Amino acid sequence: MTGCAVGMATMLTLMTVADLDRVLAIEVGAYSHPWSRGHFIDSLAAGHDARVLIEDQVGLVGYSVCSAGVDEWHLLNLTVARDRRRCGLGSRLLDAVVAAARDHGKSAVWLEVRAGNAGALALYRRHGFETNGIRRNYYPDRAGREDAVLMSLSLASPAAAA
Ligand SMILES: CC(C)(COP(=O)(O)OP(=O)(O)OC[C@H]1O[C@@H](n2cnc3c(N)ncnc32)[C@H](O)[C@@H]1OP(=O)(O)O)[C@@H](O)C(=O)NCCC(=O)NCCS
Repeated sequence: MTGCAVGMATMLTLMTVADLDRVLAIEVGAYSHPWSRGHFIDSLAAGHDARVLIEDQVGLVGYSVCSAGVDEWHLLNLTVARDRRRCGLGSRLLDAVVAAARDHGKSAVWLEVRAGNAGALALYRRHGFETNGIRRNYYPDRAGREDAVLMSLSLASPAAAA
């Protein structure tokens, strides 16, 4: 399925082990170094905040995984199925991540993103995230290593409150 259907119903629910076949199919299509089933199982076992986005008549089209720090929420994974991108689903997931962080009383959301991931950088900036620094050679990539951009959203900021 392609194109953004207007008014398509979507639902966010907590990720369970039963979701992992579909999650992994999206994951391997999205990353050069995808998470394994074990990564997701460990995240669920650790009690991380993991959610799936279900689109009416399509099924599972995206997911997020976050861990809780003392004062911050750490976004570990945010992914939308390749054929459902640029339809606002990543934004829907990210809004839910920020809302969950706020509900848990956290003061900020933190994340790392590959320096070459222009789409994700654009998404996070659009949602008010600011760059805090660069972690040199943080990620493996096909040619060697790639820098990570460290970003955060202060939940006290006007952008987060909007
Ligand atoms: C990053 C990702 C989650 C975005 O999901 P999405 O559903 O396409 O995001 P949205 O449709 O909500 O995009 C919202 C805005 O973000 C920006 N954006 C998103 N993807 C973009 C891209 N590829 N290029 C430029 N801007 C982009 C745009 O401003 C977009 O608004 P617009 O479509 O009106 O121009 C998705 O591309 C993805 O899963 N990528 C692979 C996995 C990944 O890199 N995850 C992030 C790891 S840190």
